[in-house]
Amino acid sequence: MSVTLPFERVLVAACGSSGAMSLPQSLLAMRHALGLEVRVVMTEAASTFVTPTALAAITGHPVTVEEAHGQPGVPHLDLTEWAQLVLVLPATANTLAKAALGMADNLVTACVLASAAPVVFVPAMNVRMWEKPAVQRNVAQLRADGYGVVPPSRVIALSSGTATGIGVPGIETVLEWTVGHLTSTGSGAGVDGAASDG
Ligand SMILES: Cc1cc2nc3c(=O)[nH]c(=O)nc-3n(C[C@H](O)[C@H](O)[C@H](O)COP(=O)(O)O)c2cc1C
Repeated sequence: MSVTLPFERVLVAACGSSGAMSLPQSLLAMRHALGLEVRVVMTEAASTFVTPTALAAITGHPVTVEEAHGQPGVPHLDLTEWAQLVLVLPATANTLAKAALGMADNLVTACVLASAAPVVFVPAMNVRMWEKPAVQRNVAQLRADGYGVVPPSRVIALSSGTATGIGVPGIETVLEWTVGHLTSTGSGAGVDGAASDG
């Protein structure tokens, strides 16, 4: 990598895009090539594209899909207090919309809302979805609220084999963009989360 990463503990919050199928490669690179400690939460939809079992094996940590009510601990607080960066990877149109509204109806959106650490979204969807005013409005709102939104690249869409996808430009590019974003906004990584009962 051409930059030094100012964070070591990354919470990857995965959504139900076909881009989730490339998570194993991204997580392997983050853990072993880049030396990051990575934990994963995912939406129910994401867990249909790649299994929590696979991602737990790759990260060496349990992968949580939903908050377990009645269990000790509060996952959205425990995980975001641990994280120095929350990476919503990949981010669906649906989750971008929820986050822009401040919704917290699943573990991924609760982590976004609870995080004291910087949050960066990596959108992945069909280009027609990406270009819709509603999606662009939500992205503008997220940026105005201080979140990072990685400018997506054209990628091969799995359904057609053509370059009609908007997706993850490669994990190193994502992390390099994130470092630039943190520097330009002055958001230091490793912000301590404030404990609360939320
Ligand atoms: C095969 C398949 C591929 C999909 N790919 C995407 C995608 O790349 N981006 C996207 O925004 N939604 C995609 N969707 C739709 C999402 O899975 C759907 O909106 C879901 O509700 C997202 O939930 P989540 O945001 O909680 O993960 C896809 C659905 C299917 C069945």
